[in-house]
Amino acid sequence: MITNLPLKIKKLARELEAFDSPDFDFLKKTIAKTEFSGKELDHLASFNHPSDQSYGRHLLYESRRLKIFLMCWAPGDFTAIHDHGQTQWGCVVAFGNFTHRVYSLEDSRLKLKSVDPFGEGQVACLTGDLIHMMGNAGDNNIMSLHIYGSDSNNKSLAKRSRVYFPEKRKVITTNGPAFLNCPEDTILEQEYFDSVDKDLLLDYLNLIKLRSEKTLTGYPVRSN
Ligand SMILES: [Fe+2]
Repeated sequence: MITNLPLKIKKLARELEAFDSPDFDFLKKTIAKTEFSGKELDHLASFNHPSDQSYGRHLLYESRRLKIFLMCWAPGDFTAIHDHGQTQWGCVVAFGNFTHRVYSLEDSRLKLKSVDPFGEGQVACLTGDLIHMMGNAGDNNIMSLHIYGSDSNNKSLAKRSRVYFPEKRKVITTNGPAFLNCPEDTILEQEYFDSVDKDLLLDYLNLIKLRSEKTLTGYPVRSN
């Protein structure tokens, strides 16, 4: 955790700590009131994470009920498809233009629900059951601020998230990050599903292609 946090992040954490189970409206208003910009977090950013970590993850603040991360995305960086486990409330603030997919589970089958872009300054609601994938398909480094909260005494914050690997028909449960190549030692459980939605799979392969090219060559390869 970072000790010399910007004052605005300290203020944000203080306000969130003082309010039980904040809803999305409260989170959006509190973030708007704090008035911070990506520029004010630039000095905390680092984009040279190891290539087996599919995006950069920096813990800014942590308490029993609240975690705040700054995520750093170099071109080609993507999460895997994941939910947020035992997170009860939270949100993501975009500092840059993200590629974003939202999924749903219908009769235990994963479906692509929306391909809405997630752009500069937007705030997205985050709860444990949100299944999504986000990343940087652009040419410049971008950042996002992630807030995860839980007010339940019997649920550890942000634990037991599920990460989906449609190309392997596999879903794992982990307390770790949603990297595309999830470290084996972070896997708590894994299971396999019978079939994969074709549209979802093609879309997913297209996205992770950018990441695979980066892992192999050090940078994403463009077709034009
Ligand atoms: Fe997420």
